[in-house]
Amino acid sequence: MKKSILILIFCLFGVLSAFTDLSAQSLVQSYESNPVTKKFILLPVKTGAAKTWITVNVDGVFQHEFEIELAPENPDFYATLEVGQWKGKKLVLSAETVVPGSKWISLTKTSDEMSDESLVYKEELRPQFHFAPRRGWTNDPNGLVYYNGTYHLFFQHNPYGTSWGNMTWGHAVSTDLLHWNEMPDAVIPDKNGVVFSGSAVVDWKNTSGLQTKPIKDKTGKITNPPLVAFYTSTDANRGKGKSAQSMVYSVDEGKTWIKYPGNPVIPHIIGGNRDPKVFWFEDKQNPKNGHWTMALYMDGEDYALFSSKNLIQWEKICDIKNLGCSECPDMFELPVDGNKQKSRWVFWGGNGKYLIGNFDGKEFKVESGPFTTKYGGNDYAAQSYSDIPAKDGRRIQFSWMQGGEYPKMPFNQQFTSPRNLTLHTTPDGIRLFMEPIKEIKNLVISVPVTFSAGLKGLDKPIQVPNIKGELLDIEVQFELKAYTASDTNNLLKAEILGQKISYNLGNQLISLAGIKAPLAPVDNKIKLRLLVDRTSIELFANDGIIQIAKCFVNKDKEPANLTISGNKDLANVKIVAYQLKSVWKK
Ligand code: FRU
Repeated sequence: MKKSILILIFCLFGVLSAFTDLSAQSLVQSYESNPVTKKFILLPVKTGAAKTWITVNVDGVFQHEFEIELAPENPDFYATLEVGQWKGKKLVLSAETVVPGSKWISLTKTSDEMSDESLVYKEELRPQFHFAPRRGWTNDPNGLVYYNGTYHLFFQHNPYGTSWGNMTWGHAVSTDLLHWNEMPDAVIPDKNGVVFSGSAVVDWKNTSGLQTKPIKDKTGKITNPPLVAFYTSTDANRGKGKSAQSMVYSVDEGKTWIKYPGNPVIPHIIGGNRDPKVFWFEDKQNPKNGHWTMALYMDGEDYALFSSKNLIQWEKICDIKNLGCSECPDMFELPVDGNKQKSRWVFWGGNGKYLIGNFDGKEFKVESGPFTTKYGGNDYAAQSYSDIPAKDGRRIQFSWMQGGEYPKMPFNQQFTSPRNLTLHTTPDGIRLFMEPIKEIKNLVISVPVTFSAGLKGLDKPIQVPNIKGELLDIEVQFELKAYTASDTNNLLKAEILGQKISYNLGNQLISLAGIKAPLAPVDNKIKLRLLVDRTSIELFANDGIIQIAKCFVNKDKEPANLTISGNKDLANVKIVAYQLKSVWKK
């Protein structure tokens, strides 16, 4: 075929595709704010509506873009886009493909308040004492850091929809880890890509120099240290693109965050390397050897540690391979049985498998593991707090309750309750325990219900009287009487709001809603702690040697009905049930 004929065919094809574009009947439309006068633009969202990309341009300069299910009419909720930083400038939001007749432009609002202020936290399926974002999707907790009386909670956020996407760091603050005040998003996508998981630290000695006006007290201590956070910037979904490690910092105690101009600080190394967790390694023998350490997920089931003196230049120090999981590392030192002279390091992976070992600042030497404390259910990508003061000394962790369902809600996914991690010696060796933080007791409404009885038989469940409300913190203690250890017919049972808990003394397995975990009686007792919220139940057994987190929906907000059963005379049961209040203002 002659070249000219080929060119003609190509041209014809071009004209035809132009027609096809028109026949798809989608329109490019723009919303303008000229000049920007308010802090926020509130965009109408309808879950299930056609998706479009929106680009944000300020005075003609591209800022970032996001994908959104723009509501043509009757929005389910409004998404919050912070624009206050561009006050006085011309802002244009260009939507790529808008359904003809869509009223999104007239529905879009400007405001000094975040979206849906009068509706938020009053939703039917809003967790009542667990964190879930005001609007949109969350997955991993990120950047958990405590500074000057405030716990910061950053989180993987899709501000514009209730499914995963547009990864951004949402931000909430609290003084007790239970009552949260959600702030505008802290870290938004940029030319390096979207913002995946990571961590934050207080740079007490300003090793990074990012505080350019350090103020020192009489002892030489810097009183205005920068807060520095690390995250994975990636140009494609779930690590399929080239992901690299980037940095943001705050010089106003974590209120606002500035991208480090030299990002990324660690370029792409391998596969989907991601989720930097940074901490200060203090060399007790030789304080001069103290340095920053970063645990980073590399690829497959491999992680690595990196070291830095200034948070900016990093070098690899060792590999940690074959942990049996991927993503979201954490690493911390804990006293064993409360004895600070006898401590161990814990290396933690995305699915909650952990190794116990020693870390000398150069190499993590595995002593035992992998083990797990948390079983199945809805629990992934946990992270622990950095910089909790030594006088408190706790290692507090949040986890994403992956896989919960919140039908028709303007938000999606929640976190576990915050839990305190400790190491204890058990007959099997040193193991990690997790228990709810003590602050939870501040939510108790009234005097607890106490109850005790002997078990009457599996077919004769005992209903615990006087339990009120749907939000509860319950302690159940079975004190075992004589039993044959190998008899798998020996069962202890509890049921609350349709969630079945069962313990089999023969095979020493406990189960919550069918999720099983090994559990041996201690001092002839099986102790259970249950946190019951409107959309979740968490079970901690025998002081937290195992934990199961499970999402469920108490749609009708039924008051809880707790029943206990078990083989006749197998055990005596003691119950203490505390009714809790919601953390949200109604
Ligand atoms: C874990 C994870 C991380 C990643 C983030 C993206 O759930 O896949 O590895 O950084 O989620 O949202």
